Amino acid sequence: MDKSLRKVVIAGNWKMNKTPDEATALINEIKPLVADANCDVVACVPYIDLFAAMEAAKGSNIKIGAENCHWAESGAFTGEVSANMLKTIGVEYVVIGHSERRQFFGETDVTVQKRVRAALDNGLKVILCVGELLEEREQNVTMEIVRMQTKIALLGVSEAELENIIIAYEPVWAIGTGKTATAAQANEVNCAIRALIGELYGKAAADKIVVQYGGSMNAGNADELLAQYDVDGGLIGGASLKAPDFAAIVKAASK
Ligand code: 13P
Repeated sequence: MDKSLRKVVIAGNWKMNKTPDEATALINEIKPLVADANCDVVACVPYIDLFAAMEAAKGSNIKIGAENCHWAESGAFTGEVSANMLKTIGVEYVVIGHSERRQFFGETDVTVQKRVRAALDNGLKVILCVGELLEEREQNVTMEIVRMQTKIALLGVSEAELENIIIAYEPVWAIGTGKTATAAQANEVNCAIRALIGELYGKAAADKIVVQYGGSMNAGNADELLAQYDVDGGLIGGASLKAPDFAAIVKAASK
């Protein structure tokens, strides 16, 4: 397999942080710091911040994404936003299946699959999150869990559509805890995800798929994580809210 076939993607996931004014300020602060990045740079922001973030990012190399989307085009789904709505306003990326959605908002592998389908049908690029709980790692079923989540999410996704999918391996126990997976642990699971893509779609697809790591990635540990053969970037929570920290990760990814 050839790592040079893949691009590196560093994406921020702002979660439920920043008002529109704060979003404008943060994007404006990040912009000059990542202008000469040698990787793709994405900021996934709360729905309310999308317009402000897209406006601030205009003319820069920062792409804007949302943090979820619904599978229906429209209808009686109070509080939800459709993939079609996101596409219509010019959003490029969407995070789907984040563990916080699974843990706190009842998302299942099946709803994740439906949201992925809708996002692809509307031309959005998907950052699909998978990852095991601490107890699942302790029960030694990490690979089974991650394979199952990935397989179900990709049901019905064609090899051509896979070009618009990034998979983010995010061990739930490493999210927001300051506990990072070791570089070896991250690489092991990312490698297994790539092998699964190989089983499902063949070697060429496996070589090309971008598999990120997420979970307490920061300016201090990014170098080591991103140097791993199967780690093609990061999905960054806390550290994406501070421009210098996020920029340092982008810099590590640009080497
Ligand atoms: P932290 O970087 O804050 O651990 O969050 C990771 C994450 O969940 C990104 O989606």
